[in-house]
Amino acid sequence: MKTVLSSSTEPCTTVIDGRAVADELLASIRNRVEQESLKPGLAVILVGSDPASSVYVRNKGRSAEACGFLSRQYDLPETASESELLQLIERLNADAEIHGILVQLPLPRQIDQHRVIQAIDPAKDVDGFHYLNVGLLAAGNRDTSLVPCTPLGCLHLIRQQLGDSLSGKHAVVIGRSNIVGKPMANLLLQADCTVSMLHSRSRDPEQLCRQADIVVAAVGIPGLVNSNWIKPGAVVIDVGINRVDQPDGRSRLVGDVDYDDVYPLASAITPVPGGVGPMTIAMLMKNTLDSALRFNNKG
Ligand code: GUN
Repeated sequence: MKTVLSSSTEPCTTVIDGRAVADELLASIRNRVEQESLKPGLAVILVGSDPASSVYVRNKGRSAEACGFLSRQYDLPETASESELLQLIERLNADAEIHGILVQLPLPRQIDQHRVIQAIDPAKDVDGFHYLNVGLLAAGNRDTSLVPCTPLGCLHLIRQQLGDSLSGKHAVVIGRSNIVGKPMANLLLQADCTVSMLHSRSRDPEQLCRQADIVVAAVGIPGLVNSNWIKPGAVVIDVGINRVDQPDGRSRLVGDVDYDDVYPLASAITPVPGGVGPMTIAMLMKNTLDSALRFNNKG
């Protein structure tokens, strides 16, 4: 016998359209640029020719142009020395037309990533990776800091779902990277959430995660978070971008969340692709605009 489900049993989950939210943000950034007669300048440095990095860098440049920014891309060979890169950063630090500097990671082995990031003027560090910006965020001072783009994008999506007050919500961040997990936890803490961080050594992560009103998954393990990890009604933000091989020999992108399994339980969920990804670039533009406003005493 065929069972017919009534419409009341259908999940009423919101699939968060990160592309649409990002496009709105980009339009508002472009408007602000026109209003202020400002020319924010973004310099993106690519060392080597990793195909994925090349695509990311090209997209950042295109977005910058679409926002009315000055966009410059610097391509250094795979064999570039650390001192070559440091000299370029020094030049850009002193360049009045440039308000944001981004060095695409990862870097080739001969270059010390930490030394390079710390060489960027913290006021132009639109990635928010310089220790001064890391410290300002950890200390709860966002007035003069620049915050990493992906966590900023995630917070924007969470607020859109839950409203401006996240006070008292239990947020679980899965993954403790410097780029996503740690700054995400700090942002949520500042928003008055109760924050738990889960990582590879956490005991019984499913049970901990099942208590969360907000779940941000950023570990790089395809499909790790399934329905056993999720409390009904949770907002689920998937930062993972994992390329997995399929039986037909092709590959596809999947997140850290088992989307089909979690979808019926969540109140809102980001897809991969099309969820967090576009927000990262939009927030990079926002950071560059904020930096240009501060340099022009309008911030
Ligand atoms: N490589 C992957 N993600 C990022 C990012 O957010 N910033 C930089 N600079 N490189 C990356």
